[in-house]
Amino acid sequence: MRPFLIAANWKMHKSPRDTRDYFTTILPKFEACGVAKDPSFRKIIFFVPALDLQAAADSLKGTHIGWGAQNAHWETKGAFTGENSPAVLAELATPYVLVGHSERRALFGETDEQTGLKVKALHSVGITPLLCVGESLEEREAGRTNEVIVRQLNAGLSQRDATKRVIIAYEPVWAIGTGKVATPEQANDAHAVLRKALAAFGQAVADATPILYGGSVKPDNSAEIAKQPEIDGFLVGGASLETDSFLALCQTPKDRS
Ligand code: 13P
Repeated sequence: MRPFLIAANWKMHKSPRDTRDYFTTILPKFEACGVAKDPSFRKIIFFVPALDLQAAADSLKGTHIGWGAQNAHWETKGAFTGENSPAVLAELATPYVLVGHSERRALFGETDEQTGLKVKALHSVGITPLLCVGESLEEREAGRTNEVIVRQLNAGLSQRDATKRVIIAYEPVWAIGTGKVATPEQANDAHAVLRKALAAFGQAVADATPILYGGSVKPDNSAEIAKQPEIDGFLVGGASLETDSFLALCQTPKDRS
């Protein structure tokens, strides 16, 4: 059984001090409601700005909650001003890194080929990549959703280490930060397409790989989305920034029977 996985993407929000304050507030609440106590059933991960990684690691040490970075380069070191080295992220004991977020693709020119190199580099240092895929509004309206997300999936996984884990997030670009959420059926259909494409890497890969939905997930729509059978969790931007709304999201019911 795949765990239900709720991931926060803070994007470029919060300082190390904010990070410590956030965890000081939310950790006792997680403890009280028990959502973070069994990671084989429900797993929570925070993708924080690189400058907050140490604060997140210090705050979350000894818990079952994961943390990760939002980007990494594919080389270990070199003349790549401003980039994060996968080897250094590994030295900082970072368990997860996002790859191919639509903001990286659209604003920073990240290509399909680069996502493949990044997944390879992260696997080589023992970090689990969370590969994001998703179509733009124009691509959806042109009926190209499935073609685009399968292309992004295949490119991202093309150089992976087959013995290592990946996590996938389907984030339709038109639903990110817009308040426009995909209908639960639209999301489930895209997840089913991705699951089928994952089976080309082996049925065991398709069965074991969590596929998260991202794009305007909020406490008032999460329960409906989570009811869909192919949806294994969420990748949450805006609603993860406040502890109350993220705590509510972490308590979304999921029937795994
Ligand atoms: P929002 O939840 O703010 O739409 O952001 C989604 C996202 O991009 C998560 O990676």
